[in-house]
Amino acid sequence: MEKNFNPFLVSGYKNVKYFCDREAETATLKANIKNNINTTLFAIRRIGKTGLIHHVFNSYANNNKIVCIYVDILSSNNLKDFTNQLATVIYNRFPENKSVGKKIIQGIRLLRPLISYDSLSGAPELSFELGEAKQYEKTIQQLFTFLDAQNIKIVFAIDEFQQILEYPEKNMEALLRTHIQTLKNTHFIFCGSNQKMMHEIFNSAKRPFFASCSNLHLGFIDTKLYADFIQRIFTEYKLKITPESIDFILNFTNCHTFYTQYLCHYLFASNIKLIELKDVQNCAIEILKLSETTYFQYRNLITTAQWQLLQAIAKENKLHQAHSKVFINKYKLGTSSMVTRGIDSLLEKELIYYNSLVEHPYYEVYDKFMMRWMQHKL
Ligand SMILES: Nc1ncnc2c1ncn2[C@@H]1O[C@H](COP(=O)(O)OP(=O)(O)O)[C@@H](O)[C@H]1O
Ligand SMILES: [Mg+2]
Repeated sequence: MEKNFNPFLVSGYKNVKYFCDREAETATLKANIKNNINTTLFAIRRIGKTGLIHHVFNSYANNNKIVCIYVDILSSNNLKDFTNQLATVIYNRFPENKSVGKKIIQGIRLLRPLISYDSLSGAPELSFELGEAKQYEKTIQQLFTFLDAQNIKIVFAIDEFQQILEYPEKNMEALLRTHIQTLKNTHFIFCGSNQKMMHEIFNSAKRPFFASCSNLHLGFIDTKLYADFIQRIFTEYKLKITPESIDFILNFTNCHTFYTQYLCHYLFASNIKLIELKDVQNCAIEILKLSETTYFQYRNLITTAQWQLLQAIAKENKLHQAHSKVFINKYKLGTSSMVTRGIDSLLEKELIYYNSLVEHPYYEVYDKFMMRWMQHKL
């Protein structure tokens, strides 16, 4: 076992041992890959979308018939950035000492990118200095066509895909769709978080991506499976944890993956040999205290009415009836239309989200720790 390693990951992916469940979703994604079906994977933030992609890609690590490529486009602002990121991940994915790699790297070099090196990681970064948008479009097409011509199966995951809607170039979806349709060996996973935007891209009949992909939704991990996972990991590291402590963790975080991992990570790091309920409660309070300044910053960034509404939603835990008189009067939120406006604004700022995939849909505060802080503090 690695020294100082914390098995409750709060970023990235390591291997199957530290990954809880997602068996059904993994199987679906792998079946889509096997059957050459493009997938859209969209769900709320910090639920485990990126983790799932890495988990699935990791299972092909020793498969020399499938090449998996991952790109996160959150930091891109336009078509040019997108092109550069695409070229960079392709360039870095293929080792030059293999024959396919050599061909691909030579092919990309013919497009005349500027190659620089990341100051921290030392990894090559490619960029193109082209005149017009059309030339970038052409470069994207060349990159895809070139990859596709190598007669190897390629699975391309584009994470934070909704970012393309922020670009000044408004034809990104149409552009990608056109290229994607012509590819034979290259298949895609489009992944994203912003619910409204993802919905707009993939489910609106007017939009080019409509009906082109198989949708995979990612919900919360089953509570029982998560409890077993937490128990197993602590036991493997010779730490004891009581069942009521685990119940508390999953309840406190509403089983939202990142927050559950974070609380377990914190507990693990505190190195208590027998973890009991009071220990978990203390850790939870410490986490909330650590985040308090951030919450106060949020408060300064939104209006008083929005803050009051956010608090009200937090206190409700899950808010099913946002416009009921009972809710509005209980928290003195003014009129129904004020609540509508407030909710729209909080949704847009991603301080709350709407879960419409359950029998009784509800609004909930996005950040589980902020939710608990508001419930306890105020
Ligand atoms: N199935 C899982 N088991 C354990 N940890 C997970 C699992 N899925 C995700 N995580 C962890 O939870 C955190 C959030 O997951 P991530 O995949 O980044 O969410 P998203 O991409 O949906 O925002 C990450 O730290 C990741 O390591
Ligand atoms: Mg992600």
